[in-house]
Amino acid sequence: MLFSSLITLGLVTAGLSSPTPWRGPHGHDAAKKVIYFLNVDPSGSSVVAIEVGHNGMLMNSTAVTSTEGTGSQAINQTAIPEAPVTADPLQGQDAVTVVGNYLFTVNSGSDTAVMYRIDPANPLHLEMVGKPMSTLGEVAMSIAYSAKLEKACVLNGGALNGVTCFCVDAKRGLVPDGVGLRKLGLNSTTPVQFVGEKGSGSDIRFTPGSEKLVATFKGDNMPATLGHILVFDVSGQGEVATKGTDNQVSPLAAPFGFVFDPNEPDLMLISDINFGGVLAKLDYETNGASLVKVQNSSTFAASCWAAYSSGTNMSYLISAMAPNFGKVDPVSGDLGGFVTFPKSLGGAFDTIIDGTTAYFLSGTSAIGVLDVASGALLQSFDYSGSDRHFWTGMAIYPNGEGYGHGKGHGGHGGW
Ligand SMILES: *[C@@H]1O[C@H](CO)[C@@H](O)[C@H](O)[C@H]1NC(C)=O
Ligand SMILES: *[C@@H]1O[C@H](CO)[C@@H](O)[C@H](O)[C@H]1NC(C)=O
Ligand SMILES: *[C@@H]1O[C@H](CO)[C@@H](O)[C@H](O)[C@H]1NC(C)=O
Ligand SMILES: *[C@@H]1O[C@H](CO)[C@@H](O)[C@H](O)[C@H]1NC(C)=O
Ligand SMILES: *[C@@H]1O[C@H](CO)[C@@H](O)[C@H](O)[C@H]1NC(C)=O
Repeated sequence: MLFSSLITLGLVTAGLSSPTPWRGPHGHDAAKKVIYFLNVDPSGSSVVAIEVGHNGMLMNSTAVTSTEGTGSQAINQTAIPEAPVTADPLQGQDAVTVVGNYLFTVNSGSDTAVMYRIDPANPLHLEMVGKPMSTLGEVAMSIAYSAKLEKACVLNGGALNGVTCFCVDAKRGLVPDGVGLRKLGLNSTTPVQFVGEKGSGSDIRFTPGSEKLVATFKGDNMPATLGHILVFDVSGQGEVATKGTDNQVSPLAAPFGFVFDPNEPDLMLISDINFGGVLAKLDYETNGASLVKVQNSSTFAASCWAAYSSGTNMSYLISAMAPNFGKVDPVSGDLGGFVTFPKSLGGAFDTIIDGTTAYFLSGTSAIGVLDVASGALLQSFDYSGSDRHFWTGMAIYPNGEGYGHGKGHGGHGGW
């Protein structure tokens, strides 16, 4: 039921752009690479895994694993009658997170978080660790994991919104950290709205050194308010603070996905659906966030995701309604032009970049494989194993994250 097609140009340039083979923490060549995304299905969600070949291309070797929970999609307030959105069901980023040999995801309908162990010999195979755990809020939509802290934290973006954290145990899975729901008390609804009156959750991540937990939340549309950058301290014992600092940074009204610069971890590139995005600076002393630079260009259209490439040392703002990635210097925030791809793919959604190879959910039922260095679209891989309306999140295994951290904590299982 699935097929893929190589774009003619991609066939010609593919050989120049193969990602470098990944070497594991013990220096062995990893056998397989896999990308993952989430199917937010009200009748039962699942994680889709697609194998990446040695040349970086997606292959017909796929697997679908149940998340043992249901999905809740955002409601399109501009549709008559109102209906679930036809893309980006959670209105956010990082619904699927891979660190080390673990994959974490969320069930936005049953409001649970789930953890899987990835089999390094066959990363298509996900084995659930423990069972789905309540996120204590509504519309669980993004999940962060720190291998150093051995903690996973979920952003609940609906009417009962807030952050819930779990201790991660190799045998028991997700274990509540005892704090309960860190309520945000922001205006949202369950299910969340697309182009409605109220805001909703966007993204959650730990800072690169796990010193802070950061979440973004969209502001209200009516009346218009700024969005939120919430910053939680992490104690020396690895406990996430019970209360965060709420930053509202003009002109961010609809902050969406964000990414840190791994070289300058106080700088974060945040997309904003209305105009493009901003580079913001995070003050690790005060937990304040301030504006460094605004990128506002009509070449962006519904800029919702942000990704960093270690291959180009650049970050990218990714638009749902435009066939391009906006290249942003992660230190200055300057716009370095756009990497474009064919309009027929209908824009780009959740994206992960491995070296210089970006894997993105396109506006069609295809996953785009784009070399952000050369600009060549290497592949457009059609996946018809599930309804495109349900797709969100994008992660890759292995990705180097989680190794070299947490040494002396007994490792993270699997190796
Ligand atoms: C996947 O399978 C389809 C149908 O058999 C075939 O047309 C396509 O070339 C295959 N793609 C890859 C990348 O192997
Ligand atoms: C929302 O509904 C409008 C009107 O039907 C439609 O044009 C648009 O594509 C929909 N957007 C999403 C994300 O579902
Ligand atoms: C929530 O919405 C109400 C009504 O529009 C408004 O008065 C209030 O300030 C909003 N709260 C936040 C946290 O934005
Ligand atoms: C972005 O540019 C447009 C067109 O010039 C302008 O209307 C809008 O206010 C700008 N937004 C921001 C946040 O700078
Ligand atoms: C990336 O840029 C930073 C400066 O921000 C520099 O220190 C680092 O060496 C660069 N890395 C690569 C791989 O070019």
